Amino acid sequence: MKILVTGGAGFIGSNFIRHVLAERKDYELINYDKLTYAGNLANLAEVAEDPNYTFIRGDICDAATVEAAMRGCDAVIHFAAESHVDRSIYEPAPVIDTNIKGTFTLLEVARALRVERFLHISTDEVYGDLTPGDFADESSPLQPSSPYSASKAGADLLVLSYVRTYALPAVITRSSNNYGPYQFPEKFLPLMITNALEHKPLPIYGDGKQQRDWLHVEDNCRGILRVLEKGRAGEVYNIGGLDIEENLTIARRLLNLMNRPESLLSYVKDRPGHDRRYALRCEKMRVELSWKPMILLENGLRQTIEWYANHTAWLADVRGGEYRSYYAKYYENRDSSLRDVVPS
Ligand code: NAD
Ligand code: DAU
Repeated sequence: MKILVTGGAGFIGSNFIRHVLAERKDYELINYDKLTYAGNLANLAEVAEDPNYTFIRGDICDAATVEAAMRGCDAVIHFAAESHVDRSIYEPAPVIDTNIKGTFTLLEVARALRVERFLHISTDEVYGDLTPGDFADESSPLQPSSPYSASKAGADLLVLSYVRTYALPAVITRSSNNYGPYQFPEKFLPLMITNALEHKPLPIYGDGKQQRDWLHVEDNCRGILRVLEKGRAGEVYNIGGLDIEENLTIARRLLNLMNRPESLLSYVKDRPGHDRRYALRCEKMRVELSWKPMILLENGLRQTIEWYANHTAWLADVRGGEYRSYYAKYYENRDSSLRDVVPS
């Protein structure tokens, strides 16, 4: 099987490429990535010379380059996205371009080339803010809150429209919050870990009682491969870690594992429109595809802390220029007033 992987230089995409090259010796992977601030070929250094792997630099909004890359492929797995909620709040335009127009471009090319499988990677954020104790299954209503989640919900609906209207054999996965090696440190867990490593404050938005369902990226990669190979066209599959925790609990657990004081917790101005709870019901993955998460949060956290502590060169590189100005813009003085940190 020859697969076009979009966004393969990012966090989940690069973990997925390494997973598939190790698990499926007869699969050929083409990584198509624009290399935005979040894309990093160093994530794939250990497979760069693998004969079953090639890299093409390109934008998913550019139909001609997409077509050249997709021609001859049996399947497309679409990870590429602007994936950070905070950035989507302060600068929505690139999010709409990539997540909606980019997905549309891929769908059009896949339709024209009659690609046999199109796997769209979506998110539990499309279900929006759940009430306490509630869980979302695949038929729950889409009620996105941020420009990011609205763009992902829009992309999901476009994909499903191509299934119905053009019989495109597409499937969708909606996963919960991934964590693990190679995650860009703008996201909660790597930001907390990397700050704690340097004895810097851990910025907790609002009261820190927001709940997220934590999924190790390796479990997600196994689930995505299962859906690629066995999922039914036109279906949506939730992939969750089934471990729902408050942010504050996770931050405290990290500090404890890293032997750092709780005085590093720093409560800062909340994210506008911040969803309180995400939680997935994943019966469909379990019953239909015999998948369930294998990595316990406690073990996954230990492994992830160790990974960041041991990859100082990787970290120094990704925390270079762009990250430094991002951090200064969004976090410095955040406790005084959010307006002060919104870029003009
Ligand atoms: P990421 O930000 O780490 O990586 C995104 C990748 O897409 C980068 O390599 C970037 O260069 C590439 N990209 C961005 N715009 C592009 C464009 N226009 N053309 C080509 N490439 C482009 O993201 P991630 O965390 O790995 O997420 C991957 C996918 O999984 C996204 O679709 C995201 O919405 C979804 N998702 C992520 C999570 C999570 O917890 N990280 C959870 C659920 C779903
Ligand atoms: O749920 C899946 C989604 O998870 C994915 O679709 C997104 O691509 C991914 O970015 C992630 O979105 P979240 O907004 O849930 O993740 P983030 O890591 O940005 O934040 C997790 C929680 O931690 C959230 O409640 C906000 C909070 N937070 C985050 C940061 C960066 C803080 O309290 N402080 C922080 O500095």
